[in-house]
Amino acid sequence: MKLHGTMQVNDKGHLEIGGCDTVDLAKEFGTPLYVMDEQLIREKCREYYGAFTGTYPDSFVIYASKAFLTLAMCRLVESEGLGLDVVSGGELYTALKAGFPAEKIYFHGNNKSREEVNFALEAKVGRFVVDNIYELECLERLCGALRTKADILLRVTPGIEAHTHEYIQTGQIDSKFGLVVSNGQAMEGIKKALELNNINLKGLHCHIGSQIFELESYQHTVEVMMDFYNKVYAETGFRFEELNLGGGFGIYYVSGDKPANIKTYAAIVMETVRRMAEEMNYPMPRVIVEPGRSIVGEAGTTLYTVGSVKDIPGVRKYVAVDGGMTDNPRPALYQARYEAVVANKANQPRVDEVSIAGKCCESGDMLIWDLHVPAIEPGDILAVFCTGAYNYSMSSNYNRLMRPAVVFVKDGHADLVVKRETLDDLVRNDVIPERMKKNKPLSVVTGSRQ
Ligand code: LLP
Repeated sequence: MKLHGTMQVNDKGHLEIGGCDTVDLAKEFGTPLYVMDEQLIREKCREYYGAFTGTYPDSFVIYASKAFLTLAMCRLVESEGLGLDVVSGGELYTALKAGFPAEKIYFHGNNKSREEVNFALEAKVGRFVVDNIYELECLERLCGALRTKADILLRVTPGIEAHTHEYIQTGQIDSKFGLVVSNGQAMEGIKKALELNNINLKGLHCHIGSQIFELESYQHTVEVMMDFYNKVYAETGFRFEELNLGGGFGIYYVSGDKPANIKTYAAIVMETVRRMAEEMNYPMPRVIVEPGRSIVGEAGTTLYTVGSVKDIPGVRKYVAVDGGMTDNPRPALYQARYEAVVANKANQPRVDEVSIAGKCCESGDMLIWDLHVPAIEPGDILAVFCTGAYNYSMSSNYNRLMRPAVVFVKDGHADLVVKRETLDDLVRNDVIPERMKKNKPLSVVTGSRQ
């Protein structure tokens, strides 16, 4: 069990984050509640900035906003000097709404719609990361219509199979993303991009997967990419200015997870690019990395209230909480594992073994198997660690559950950054067709609208 960032156990024996007692947070904001340790997020941003841009000025760190994005998060990222990776009109809208500088935004996605592309062109985003030839042609046409040009990176699949869950592997050849290097498709795409009038090809992008611990995978990726840069030069006489290596740096979820050091990661990546550029007599490209999970993952904790406890003697004790796969789909999707403590009994000996169930109508809605806890009872507050990445951003309204609120905690203050959804939010977009109305107005429902 590892405490993260500003976590500590206070003199009441309660878990504290950012100087806030989590039991008080649960009372004030309700549960489930996503609590984000702002200082830890900032420390991670600074670690990245220092390891890359601070040490190697020809590099740039952009936060992969799919991991966790809200207006406040955009402000935080901007204030720490990072750029932003967005993958949809929705993420782009959020960034622009927060006033994030468009030129520091990289627009990804393997199937951007015409509306999304136009939106991004009008906003003048810094780069389009073009995934395929179809997109390249659309972008050329849409730029023509708007009499503008787009600076792009072409996404390629370098053929690296990182050791991670197969759903979050992306660099291998059999992938929906990017143009394959080894079979000539990437070269074809590059030649095509060079022919187009409205496209400025700045470099290539690749992303080999997520939750990666082996730095050799990154080193190998750089080698494959730089070799390819040289090959493109030999064949076309064109040299790239930029190299985007994607994200994927792993974090600690459970004991046994041993993330590498960000400084070491930066040094390996940057020194390999530099060495190869020198060997090939290639001008040093500007290197971009796109961390998501490793900026926010460990900074997030989800607080739940314990409800029913079902003991099947000799089999298992199920402890149900007031959330589940709706606020954290990762265990169901990727068999992801988490550590947790009973926040109001953080000092007590762990005498029991229980499994934490969600409240959705699915047997697979289990958050943690075989967790050691003190004697646990209804009303206890369970704090699940390392839920900052791909939890809020992947949450759903399955079973018509309302998405939790998000608070940023820092120096004893808790600021609401996303309000809890209400029952009215759940029906906000529902429409009753005229023919079903039959003079029956919508009921006025009274009672708790939490
Ligand atoms: N860049 C690109 C192009 C990506 O596709 C991703 C993640 C990232 C950067 C950021 O990767 P990170 O540093 O966060 O690992 N929902 C899954 C993860 C999917 C990752 C998708 N792409 C999960 O919960 O584990």
